[in-house]
Amino acid sequence: MCGIVGYTGKDDAVSVLTSGLKRLEYRGYDSSGIAVNNENKITMVKASGEINNLVEKLGEKTIVGCAGIGHTRWATHGAPTDINAHPHLSNSGRFAIVHNGIIENYIELKEELAGKGFNFESETDTEVVVHLLEYYYEGDVRKALMKTVSRLEGSYALGVVCSEFPKSVFAAKLGSPLIIGVGVGENFFASDVTALISKTKNIIYIEDGEFAEITPDEIDVFDCTGKSVKKSVSRVVWDIEAAEKGGYEHFMLKEIMEQPKALKSTIEPNIKDNKIHFEGLEPLGEKIKDINKIIITACGSAYHAGYVGKFVIEELCRISVEVDLASELRYRNPIIDEKTLVVVISQSGETADTIAAMKECKERGATVLSVVNVVGSTIAKLSDYVIYTWAGPEIAVATSKGYTTQLAVMNMLALWLGDHLNKIEETEYNELIEAIRSIPERAQRSLDLNAQMADFVKNYSHYDSVFYIGRNIDYAICMEGSLKLKEISYVHSEAYAAGELKHGTIALVDENSLVVAPCCQESLFDKMMSNIKEVKARGANVLAVALENNHKIYEEADNVISIPETHPMFVSVAEIIPLQLFSYYIAKEKGCNIDKPKNLAKSVTVE
Ligand code: AGP
Repeated sequence: MCGIVGYTGKDDAVSVLTSGLKRLEYRGYDSSGIAVNNENKITMVKASGEINNLVEKLGEKTIVGCAGIGHTRWATHGAPTDINAHPHLSNSGRFAIVHNGIIENYIELKEELAGKGFNFESETDTEVVVHLLEYYYEGDVRKALMKTVSRLEGSYALGVVCSEFPKSVFAAKLGSPLIIGVGVGENFFASDVTALISKTKNIIYIEDGEFAEITPDEIDVFDCTGKSVKKSVSRVVWDIEAAEKGGYEHFMLKEIMEQPKALKSTIEPNIKDNKIHFEGLEPLGEKIKDINKIIITACGSAYHAGYVGKFVIEELCRISVEVDLASELRYRNPIIDEKTLVVVISQSGETADTIAAMKECKERGATVLSVVNVVGSTIAKLSDYVIYTWAGPEIAVATSKGYTTQLAVMNMLALWLGDHLNKIEETEYNELIEAIRSIPERAQRSLDLNAQMADFVKNYSHYDSVFYIGRNIDYAICMEGSLKLKEISYVHSEAYAAGELKHGTIALVDENSLVVAPCCQESLFDKMMSNIKEVKARGANVLAVALENNHKIYEEADNVISIPETHPMFVSVAEIIPLQLFSYYIAKEKGCNIDKPKNLAKSVTVE
């Protein structure tokens, strides 16, 4: 969703801002704009559609200036038009602002400001902010900004320029992502590290309720009373190459292929002396004996990873695990108390629904453990405990390595919990830890299928309805396989617990249906064979995913994707990879915009 970037230094602000915005494209957007401060005058250019439209418009003008702000907008309040695009300018032209988040009380504020004579141009919630700034301004931008945000309800990451301070850019954060990049003779802010990685690896993470005034040589972070806050500078561990395509046609394929490496980085540091050891989780290891229920909450693919987590944790720990969509959990009255462990899963660490669900759980006394990919993200900061997935930056909107590293953590967490609850015998533990260690290698072997997948999918690209059916972990994999297909190829698909089909949905199955059937749980194989027979009897074409030594599956399935022999409990990673590739090549066959599917945003920072 919306991305913001700010710059002040010695270079041409237009080119720094536009290249930063291009790196934020992956977040999802439908218009963009920049405002540059030059010799006490702000020049603003905005364009709907792709950033190239903005670049074209900019090419028609000469904009000189070394400080400015930029924005990619994902429309919420008002259509994606040039006028609704950010930045927004105050009536006097003194201030320009960019905003990520939602101002919930904008209607009242708009009425109030209109009553005071302010003229509104756009349909956005954001425009009230720039007029409030103007209203409160008495020569001190910091004071005006503090007064302005005290009137706002909702969430924001704000970037501000004021014509009277041509070297300064200002920022404020509450509930939406914002980081500061520290350079030499130049400084930056942005929604995330990807926008800045080509310029600096030195980052200051600012907290909710904090503000910043940034000049080329100074960064002053201050609180709502105006008092400076001491901040430390962190170093980003990944390189620019991680945020580039590196010869692949799409980020998604690159990220699919990076999975063995990402899995290794996520698994290896957490194994010491043949035991799972999560740094910083020792107090939770003690506390876990008092926990009587685990709730896993997340959205989208992260929720699907949580579903796999439920199966493995319940199996190994014999503790009840509920999996809740974060967007649902926050609007019911969940039974959560100090004896509940809430596991929050999020690649970005910024998903608004997940953050809200997590806050709800904390208020009810739960202990919160998060599984997050982005260091310093809101979810990581708000949790009692964090386990990082070390997938590196994920640019494609459809997650692949972000998801499989979450699966790896779910598997390790199950083992860690089972060990702390004394539920696992030593021999079994040793066998399971070996199985976890082998996940990256098994992932690599599943990826070997890539060579034939482009041709293979040609048999399937004509289907416009696909059912994914499975049981237990295989069912959780169906949910993710189905989501992957629909989000990037726009083919309608549904995931069903295989035994549930006959309770209604089988009415839709006929000779025009493709049924994808992962069957990697040996103990449930016969049941799956019956379900496959049922759909075949209705004329469906069945594509199974099975372990390589399973020959029986060929008796019923029309076609089989074989994956390497793996411990059934930890098969999820090897099992989803061919389905990621399947979706990728179907989408490619259909000519879809794979990295940036329509209507979707990478990081869903609004409700
Ligand atoms: C999956 O491909 C999607 N990008 C989406 O479902 C995503 O997993 C979901 O929005 C949650 O995001 P998060 O992991 O960043 O919280």
